[in-house]
Amino acid sequence: MQDPPDPRLLKNRSRLGHKLRYALAHPRRVGPHLRRAARNARLRLRHRGDHVAFYRAVMASDTARSPEAAVGGVPSHARWLAIGRMQYDYLVAHGLRPGDRMLEIGCGNLRAGWRFIDHLEPGHYYGIDISPDILVEAKKTVVRYGLQDKLPYLTPVDDLTLDFLPDAWFTVVHAHSVFSHSPLEVVAECMANVGRVLAPGGFFDFTFDRTEGHEHQVLGEDFYYRTETLVRLAAKHGLAAHFMDDWERLPHGQSKLRLTHHPVVSH
Ligand SMILES: C[S@@+](CC[C@H](N)C(=O)[O-])C[C@H]1O[C@@H](n2cnc3c(N)ncnc32)[C@H](O)[C@@H]1O
Repeated sequence: MQDPPDPRLLKNRSRLGHKLRYALAHPRRVGPHLRRAARNARLRLRHRGDHVAFYRAVMASDTARSPEAAVGGVPSHARWLAIGRMQYDYLVAHGLRPGDRMLEIGCGNLRAGWRFIDHLEPGHYYGIDISPDILVEAKKTVVRYGLQDKLPYLTPVDDLTLDFLPDAWFTVVHAHSVFSHSPLEVVAECMANVGRVLAPGGFFDFTFDRTEGHEHQVLGEDFYYRTETLVRLAAKHGLAAHFMDDWERLPHGQSKLRLTHHPVVSH
């Protein structure tokens, strides 16, 4: 018999009942949440129907306040370092080699990216992001860690068609906390195009906010998906999905899938 799902995976954060219970349990978070809701409502009105433009504006506003909080939710350098390290250690333990050619989608200010750049051969790291503001911060991270000789590429994008990148080039594609901020049409666009740039034998790892209940979103910026939705979407574009069980043990809160051209064979 299957275990019952973890109750945390059944929460629907968009429900009024959940919000009221949360507000009672965390009264000090109510003010900041309401301010964020008002700001997001303003930005959504300005960029009606265009999620990427809306989220780019969210990133501009958050980055102006704190680049580290803009990619991590909390303004803590220790947390910025720890989450970057967690991504790096996991990916190295799960196949990242210095000779890989890596594409990081939604690279932010290189919280993990600076470690990937350091690990990879020169010219082997390619970071893309919809936010020019956070990419300026990414450039500062390259300077801070003295990684100029590694010649990382950093490029702003306005969609995930990946149309400017070559066929079958990247052996590793990575997207951490990006689909957790993406509506399904953005995720679908990525899945429709990532297979083209993925080299034979390569893999695409991404995290997502998982629900075992109703799929929902909060404030237009946090999206919760069922695993099977993403697995089905990947299959539609010829990609096999593998749920990364051991990622669940890490103190992160999101889940991780690995997509490949062919099913991963476990020994
Ligand atoms: C929570 S941050 C995480 C950044 C980085 N992956 C990390 O772990 O530090 C999400 C990043 O994804 C970027 N992003 C969101 N939607 C995107 C999209 N559709 N295409 C490319 N980047 C996107 C945001 O601008 C932001 O820099």
